[in-house]
Amino acid sequence: MIRVLGIETSCDETAASVVALDGRSTPQILSNIVLSQIEEHAAFGGVVPEIAARAHVEALDGIIEAALADSGVDLADIDAIAATAGPGLVGGLIIGLMTAKAIAAAAKKPLIAINHLEGHALTARLTDGLDFPYLLLLVSGGHTQIVAVRGVGDYQRWATTIDDALGEAFDKTAKMLGLPYPGGPNVEKAAANGDAARFAFPRPMKGSAQPDFSFSGLKTAVRQAATAIAPLSDQDVADVCASFQAAVADALGDRVARALTRFRQQFPDKAEPALVVAGGVAANRTIKATLQGLCKQAGFSFVAPPLNLCTDNAAMIAWAGMERLRAGISGENAADFVPRSRWPLDSISAPMVGSGRRGAKA
Ligand code: KG4
Ligand code: ZN
Repeated sequence: MIRVLGIETSCDETAASVVALDGRSTPQILSNIVLSQIEEHAAFGGVVPEIAARAHVEALDGIIEAALADSGVDLADIDAIAATAGPGLVGGLIIGLMTAKAIAAAAKKPLIAINHLEGHALTARLTDGLDFPYLLLLVSGGHTQIVAVRGVGDYQRWATTIDDALGEAFDKTAKMLGLPYPGGPNVEKAAANGDAARFAFPRPMKGSAQPDFSFSGLKTAVRQAATAIAPLSDQDVADVCASFQAAVADALGDRVARALTRFRQQFPDKAEPALVVAGGVAANRTIKATLQGLCKQAGFSFVAPPLNLCTDNAAMIAWAGMERLRAGISGENAADFVPRSRWPLDSISAPMVGSGRRGAKA
């Protein structure tokens, strides 16, 4: 039996978890504690790095203690500690990684520095036992990426956003319309009563041969439409939200359809290909329905892990640590590891010279 303690502090969740694997059965999440800081950031309409860092300092030791207590495992019986070392807000990363280093040194345990995106990328193997390769769509407040997941530490980023992340576009749209933070769930709620055909918003990148995403033009179109009809009634807000959501689903669907085709071409022998979603935006029902439809059409299975494992958590970090331990690629010198605010997933197998330093290319 291998047991890994995971620690996650890269954004606005302070999280710790213990995951166990005995090699014969499916992995077990023995504990999974997530403290969200949403209320502390709500007044500012977004995550404030300074506030996030302070909140991690205040909460992290208690969260780790709670995760150990909940799991019923003593620190002495933990085999390794896995901590998010990037990408993310550097204040939070420093707090999580330094805490992990201190525990690892005091308890004489190996420390594994984990890329947060790798945590998202490997979650479907924890929850659904998925085999490589598969396609990942990560849509959160900070990331919008399509990644071919080929193995542990073997990732190819096929698409990313050239401006805003999709969750960010939802949050900014909500803010413009006077809806509370976080915007995604509130935009979806308002959209349920709206007319998606009232505003013909642009579908950014639709039809483009370039694989990437873009959402800032859509955000500008929403602002212009809202300004033109101000002051907005509840029905106006609902119509803008529904039209925005339809445009997003359409644009996202176009990008994903392109990636499904590419996956077929690149992995022609893969018998049951799968699209996995991760990130908070995966909660959106209109988006989910669009993706399910595309998968059905293309003969892919659609894998959506439970939402609490799709959004930021430490079980995915512990699991990524477990995968690395198992694959024998847990890294030699994690005790010297420097947090990386930028750390692209596809540099994991071949680290770039200078990565981890400020200004390293993402
Ligand atoms: O993965 P996540 O919980 O955290 C980080 O990005 O750190 O994603 C949060 C993002 C926010 O931008 C939020 O507005 C968005 O996911 N989101 C949604 C929905 N629920 C959360 N976006 C659209 N529809 C939703 N139902
Ligand atoms: Zn995340």
